[in-house]
Amino acid sequence: MSPMTNSFHVLLVDDERDIRDVLQVALSDSGYTVSLAENGQQALALFRESSPPIVITDIKMPVMDGIELLQRIKRENPETEVIMITGHGDMDLAIKSLKYKAGDFITKPINVDALDITLQRTRERIVMRRKLQEYTTHLEALVREKSQLQDHLSSLGLMIGSISHGIKGLLTGLDGGIYLLGKGLKTGDEVQMEEGWQTVRLMAERIRKMVMDILFYAKKRDLQWEKVDLRHFVEEIGRIMENRLKDTGIMYVREFGGPWVDCTIDPGSVHIALINLFDNAIDACQRQTDRSDHRITFGVKSDATHITFTISDTGTGMDAETQDKLFTLFFSSKGRKGTGLGLYITQKIISQHGGTITVASTPGRGSRFTLVLPRSAADLEKAGA
Ligand SMILES: Nc1ncnc2c1ncn2[C@@H]1O[C@H](COP(=O)(O)OP(=O)(O)OP(=O)(O)O)[C@@H](O)[C@H]1O
Ligand SMILES: [Mg+2]
Repeated sequence: MSPMTNSFHVLLVDDERDIRDVLQVALSDSGYTVSLAENGQQALALFRESSPPIVITDIKMPVMDGIELLQRIKRENPETEVIMITGHGDMDLAIKSLKYKAGDFITKPINVDALDITLQRTRERIVMRRKLQEYTTHLEALVREKSQLQDHLSSLGLMIGSISHGIKGLLTGLDGGIYLLGKGLKTGDEVQMEEGWQTVRLMAERIRKMVMDILFYAKKRDLQWEKVDLRHFVEEIGRIMENRLKDTGIMYVREFGGPWVDCTIDPGSVHIALINLFDNAIDACQRQTDRSDHRITFGVKSDATHITFTISDTGTGMDAETQDKLFTLFFSSKGRKGTGLGLYITQKIISQHGGTITVASTPGRGSRFTLVLPRSAADLEKAGA
């Protein structure tokens, strides 16, 4: 037999001691590591202990024969190569073992050279299979990487397109404001100055929001958990909302139900989420021009485990199709006034907190967004929930 460099473990099963002895010597000389068993049952126990890649087994044996051993081994590890030793007149059994996926046959009396060739073929099959598995795994990883890269690229492309479009619109607005301001300053027209100044401020605020959104989207941030006094937190946001609604003709209504508790959240992110909803509510009211008595309601309540925020408006509302696409990245119905990042980011923040966001809306009547956050989302995160 020809010696090999890589040692393979072979389990040899035969009830005839002479055969075991002779083959053990021949196989060991060729560099195989050999285990011996004298029937199927013993072989199965050894197989379970050391999972040899090659099993050579006699067909006819007491206790458990070679066919049953073959079936059991294939059931436990279909990759194992099983070579059957057949005697004269074992044709039926040989055919049967083919059915159970025996890898090869050698006939008694065993010729050592023939066994060598059979084992060489078997080893080649094992090596090929291993290589194939490696390639497949490698290929799968490559395909995964490629599609991730494609996703990133196309979302980056979409983002750049959408953002350039949005920024162009805002810069046009800014130019308009600067023009009015300049003209007002030249002529001393205070109304024009004021109008120009307000436009500049509004555009600067929108550009700031857009840039903040982009930064938030571009960089995955870990949340900064803080113990927060809920009352203090919502009163501050409420004040911002109230100020923003001054001069818009939209009424600010607060429905703070308490009870006032402490909660553990990332206040900066939840602030962004609520203000995004609030901005949308303002837009929705301003776009619904057939009524003038618009209202935005900011609601907060809590129980032992959760905090519920609601932001309701009397604006345009949404049809079913818009509601379906609402949280999709870059979905916006506002043309150059919107990037479609707001709700995408809001939803991300809420799900990072282990919370939920739901919407109820009627076209022409208004919408209500409800955020439910665990009171202590940081604990959930620690627990791996
Ligand atoms: N309160 C609301 N009432 C009516 N439509 C809404 C409301 N909130 C969101 N929408 C719809 O969902 C779309 C997506 O909202 P989202 O906040 O993600 O983007 P946007 O407001 O268009 O742009 P921005 O990125 O500047 O927030 C909006 O364009 C609008 O069509
Ligand atoms: Mg928005």
